Amino acid sequence: MKIALVGATGMVGNVMLEVLEERNFPVTELLLVASERSVGKKMTYKGEELTVIGLEEAVSQRPDIALFSAGGGTSLEWAPKFAAVGTTVVDNSSAWRMDPDKKLVVPEINAGDLTSDDKIIANPNCSTIQMVVALAPLHKKYGIKRLVISTYQSISGTGVKAVQQLENEYQGIKGEMAYPYPIHRNALPHCDVFEENGYTKEEMKLVNETRKILSDDSIAVTATAVRIPVAGGHSESINIEFEKEFDVDEVRQILHETEGVVVKDNLDTNTYPMPIYAEGKDDVFVGRIRRDESQPNSLNMWVVSDNLRKGAATNTIQIAEYLIEEELV
Ligand SMILES: NC(=O)c1ccc[n+]([C@@H]2O[C@H](COP(=O)([O-])OP(=O)(O)OC[C@H]3O[C@@H](n4cnc5c(N)ncnc54)[C@H](OP(=O)(O)O)[C@@H]3O)[C@@H](O)[C@H]2O)c1
Repeated sequence: MKIALVGATGMVGNVMLEVLEERNFPVTELLLVASERSVGKKMTYKGEELTVIGLEEAVSQRPDIALFSAGGGTSLEWAPKFAAVGTTVVDNSSAWRMDPDKKLVVPEINAGDLTSDDKIIANPNCSTIQMVVALAPLHKKYGIKRLVISTYQSISGTGVKAVQQLENEYQGIKGEMAYPYPIHRNALPHCDVFEENGYTKEEMKLVNETRKILSDDSIAVTATAVRIPVAGGHSESINIEFEKEFDVDEVRQILHETEGVVVKDNLDTNTYPMPIYAEGKDDVFVGRIRRDESQPNSLNMWVVSDNLRKGAATNTIQIAEYLIEEELV
């Protein structure tokens, strides 16, 4: 496969390179693509030095698959140009996620919906991906009626600029700010921009993308997304109200048997998921599984995953692997 990595020089792009290499993805030719600022820059893949090229040049080379993580504007403008030359695009930005004609895919849940006609495929938001991986089997079994989500999100989810801001603040250096306030020793109830309804874009992604991926608009969802000074890995407190009665041990067993989920839940040994444990791994870690005693059919759980891996690079690459396995490209 001739693969283009668009946004190769960014945070997600760098993790994509690692994951492609680790999974021994069937690459015959790799095109590293970034903005004009980076054209000519050298990067390494599997010990081979490659030169970063621009978008125009990448389209002219007609790759089989283009993995995009270069922001919404770049995706809106360039994904259709790749699709027009026969490339299948898997896009990490929010540009196409809620487009009714585009599929929003988490392979463990809905890769089976993909066909060879899907030329632009959307990868969901990081906080949504890790949550739905854990929710999908429970929705199937008990039917989810309502979700109340609070997130504790890593600064790496904002990109290179935010990582630099925290680093500067640790060292007491005055530098460029990715956030309106310091993030060191702070918690910002503000991920992405505010919308007219008083929620942030990130919070509304959790609402809308969850319903789309689980193919159920009847699920009531409300979310508060908070940025915390953690380097890698988003954490989520999720309160779930089910349609049906459930047994907590059965929930634990279902999650234990779910592909991509690791249950870490043992109070006797203080075992629960944490970002320092999830960072660098591909799984979604679930713990603190307990009944919500304040209302019927309700459960609380704590879900943690590496936002740059399962939340971005790994999920994108799993979609591409599925396309190849099923001969859809
Ligand atoms: N960070 C996460 O956890 C996460 C998770 C899921 C999805 N995403 C999405 O993935 C995308 C990238 O995020 P990131 O955190 O990796 O950001 P980042 O570190 O700021 O990297 C941005 C990348 O996009 C490239 N780029 C920017 N403008 C471009 C243009 N006009 N033409 C071509 N390339 C351009 C940059 O190239 P230069 O180096 O040349 O500027 C760089 O490679 C965003 O859409 C983001 O929403 C991020």
